[in-house]
Amino acid sequence: MDWFVRYFIKSALVYLGLGVGMGVWLGFAPEAVIYRPAHAHLNLLGFTSMLIFGVAYHVIPRFTGHPLHSRRMAEVHWWASNAGLVALVFGFLLLPWRPGARLVVEAGAVLAAIGALLFIYNLWRTLDGSGPKPRPEAGGGRRLPMSS
Ligand code: HEM
Ligand code: HEM
Repeated sequence: MDWFVRYFIKSALVYLGLGVGMGVWLGFAPEAVIYRPAHAHLNLLGFTSMLIFGVAYHVIPRFTGHPLHSRRMAEVHWWASNAGLVALVFGFLLLPWRPGARLVVEAGAVLAAIGALLFIYNLWRTLDGSGPKPRPEAGGGRRLPMSS
């Protein structure tokens, strides 16, 4: 399993823990509803999307029989998505108190969007089979073992 697959799934689990923890807080403290965007994005962009990114990077090459178009792009995606989400959530938490935190939201938004665009491009090209060609001496047709 590639490190970015494992890390996307692990980061999704961390954000799920934080997201539902925050949800319980919102449930008990109605005044904390000012932080609803932080809760929503921890769960939707943090848990749901990151889990989809990780699982998709693992299964799409195996479903299609085409190697991932670019592993490097997926690595940059992990950093962009995680830095972006953390900034976005911090920005959402600070915004009710510091209007200047809009800059943090904007930085997080741009990074998270760059990550998503890399994902779209990389999987699109993978579906089209435009990834690296396997070297014949490096295992012939058995290049995507299901167990790894
Ligand atoms: C233990 C789990 C959870 C609890 C206790 C919880 C609780 C809450 C509460 C209290 C609110 C604010 C409702 C209001 O506007 O007054 C809220 C909003 C929201 N939650 Fe959760 N939540 C949980 C898990 C999740 C998960 C897993 C997701 C997504 C995968 C999610 C997505 C959202 C979204 C999108 C909103 C904003 C909805 C809107 O725009 O009105 N929540 N949640
Ligand atoms: C680059 C990625 C994303 C950015 C930059 C972004 C940004 C934003 C912003 C700025 C808001 C308004 C927050 C406010 O009320 O002040 C918002 C709301 C919302 N977004 Fe996103 N978003 C992103 C991705 C997503 C995704 C992938 C989902 C769902 C899977 C989602 C679901 C929502 C929902 C449900 C709300 C309403 C939350 C609430 O009721 O407070 N967003 N988003």
